[in-house]
Amino acid sequence: MQTILITGGAGFIGSHLTRLFVTKYPNYNIVNVDALTYAGNLANLTDIENEPNYTFVKGDITDAPFINDLFSKYQFSGVLHCAAESHVDRSITDPLAFVRTNVIGTVNLLQAAKESWKGNMQDKLFYHISTDEVYGSLGDEGFFTEETAYDPRSPYSASKASSDHFVRAYYHTYHLPVKISNCSNNYGPFHFPEKLIPLCIHNIINKKPLPIYGKGENIRDWLFVEDHVRAIDTIFHNGKIGETYNIGGHNEWTNIALVKELCKQMDQKLGRAEGESAQLITYVTDRAGHDLRYAIDATKLKNELGWLPSLQFEEGLSKTIDWYLKNQEWLNNVTSGGYQNYYEAQYNKR
Ligand code: NAD
Ligand code: TYD
Repeated sequence: MQTILITGGAGFIGSHLTRLFVTKYPNYNIVNVDALTYAGNLANLTDIENEPNYTFVKGDITDAPFINDLFSKYQFSGVLHCAAESHVDRSITDPLAFVRTNVIGTVNLLQAAKESWKGNMQDKLFYHISTDEVYGSLGDEGFFTEETAYDPRSPYSASKASSDHFVRAYYHTYHLPVKISNCSNNYGPFHFPEKLIPLCIHNIINKKPLPIYGKGENIRDWLFVEDHVRAIDTIFHNGKIGETYNIGGHNEWTNIALVKELCKQMDQKLGRAEGESAQLITYVTDRAGHDLRYAIDATKLKNELGWLPSLQFEEGLSKTIDWYLKNQEWLNNVTSGGYQNYYEAQYNKR
């Protein structure tokens, strides 16, 4: 029975990944290590918390002695590294928090894995979950491939690019068995409502303004989170050591078109008049250094490992809205307390 470490398993993507691995692989022991920052929430995992192959440990990946002890105790054979500071706007306000968790935290994990697996790298794997934002910003045409040169432009993407470089450095220098995937924007249940889609769902429910940065013409390539974690599962088990895989939805939307689609679907679901929620759209000052367009070419993943997204966007969005409408207690819990301070600081400075 092998034991696998998932970091950041109480966050958005990490909770879906933890659920998939715990339920699909009863012969794996899954240890979820999470510091439970504002973004980490054990309520994301209540359905699996009592499974016999699941253990939660509260801890911080920036704490090297803690991480080293953890590797000694559990003798992990695999690592799925999701823990990160993940919000671009927060990275603009507090870049050092991103350096600490995303860079130093990742190097702590790499170092612990290297020491723990010294002399026996066989059947071990360090899988680093990363973002397409490391590639920078596209113009109107073209796609990010695995060969696109890194060109990070926000403190968040710079910290993720740095962590990717360290992962590759450990592969080349110490022969640590690694894999990296760089994914486009995710959406789905348990997404923290500081990010565009859940923030707008929350504000539409509460009839609050929907803040659109700049002209709303920035483009993102959206992927349903369950498709992302299915891709991670495929790469973890069948991908090649030392390789990078891009994951994306071939699903580009301008922010304004996306928010209008969200308003349309929510008007129908909430029994509101057509066009009512769209009146909440409010253009606000643009994000500093706002990347224009992200778009992933996921041909390598499709050709080599047969992965394709399963959901059309309108359907995925509908499922997501239904989940938030059914789970308003979850939404209310995470938007009380400290969230209010964040929201006021972020949106009232404009
Ligand atoms: P998230 O912010 O929802 O969750 C991050 C989790 O990491 C939280 O549970 C938090 O408590 C934990 N964490 C933060 N700092 C920690 C620390 N120092 N020690 C231990 N745990 C800590 O993030 P997410 O959206 O689920 O993203 C997960 C990963 O996927 C990140 O590495 C992110 O860069 C990457 N990614 C995200 C997206 C996206 O659209 N959300 C897209 C591509 C890649
Ligand atoms: P976000 O969900 O923060 O993801 P990322 O910045 O990692 O792509 O933002 C998605 C897009 O939506 C991005 O172009 C910024 C924009 N945006 C807004 O227009 N208003 C908002 O309130 C937020 C949070 C984001």
